[in-house]
Amino acid sequence: MPSGSGSGGGGGRVPLISGNWKMHLNHFEAITLVQKLGYLLRKEDVEEVEVSVHPPFTDLRSVQTVLEADKIPVALGAQNCHWEDKGAFTGEVAPPMLAKLNVSYVIVGHSERRELFGEADEVVNRKVLSVLGAGMTPILCVGETSAEREAGSTEAKVVGQVRAGLAGVSPAQVGAMVVAYEPIWAIGTGRVASASDAQEVCALVRSTVAELAGAEAAASLRAQYGGSVKPDSAPGLMAMPDIDGALVGGASLDAESFAGIVQYRLAG
Ligand code: PGA
Repeated sequence: MPSGSGSGGGGGRVPLISGNWKMHLNHFEAITLVQKLGYLLRKEDVEEVEVSVHPPFTDLRSVQTVLEADKIPVALGAQNCHWEDKGAFTGEVAPPMLAKLNVSYVIVGHSERRELFGEADEVVNRKVLSVLGAGMTPILCVGETSAEREAGSTEAKVVGQVRAGLAGVSPAQVGAMVVAYEPIWAIGTGRVASASDAQEVCALVRSTVAELAGAEAAASLRAQYGGSVKPDSAPGLMAMPDIDGALVGGASLDAESFAGIVQYRLAG
């Protein structure tokens, strides 16, 4: 776990830049991408920024092997999991199986899981608890649709998802977690939220966490922004006091653009 001593994020939090590959890249293509990343990321890039990649399940073992053999300073992540440790759940993957592959971060409740696969808040919460139980860190995703934003219900939606997602999680665990604010209208659309809008909702996430789990947990929890983040939009977003990283989809499939986001401090 990061020590929180870096100078990148607000409040001394070490920013986390995560690449969500979604359903892209077979294991050969995955190996090529992480090797390129290993070549592009310099030591100083990852001194104050943590990086994770979230390949499809079928790539995890191959990516783990390359990251460890080549000592690439990138954490391994997964995109989803089941909430049970084992059992008759055809087609599912259990948290302990991910932990055994040295997976550190698991994305939970991505809007594509919620919208396309019917994951309700209660299921998302169970997954958060089981990821924590297996010793990994959940990246809990929250965010509103464009209709919800236009109707002025962004706050209610995000607060509701944060509260439901973190139910039953201890304050210490909450403090070590990551919440990704991903407005659904910005995902894969090229429409990135303005830095001030993203900041406003990330601050709301933090104040909600403070109510739920106390000031200490709120101060150490990392809030990512996700939705069409590119190398040119990363510096403005990352300059915001409550934005401690990015969850990157499309741009994480290209080594240069993902490295460019990780190197956001070099811009300008
Ligand atoms: P995007 O995806 O960067 O392609 O918009 C972000 C995400 O869904 O995590």
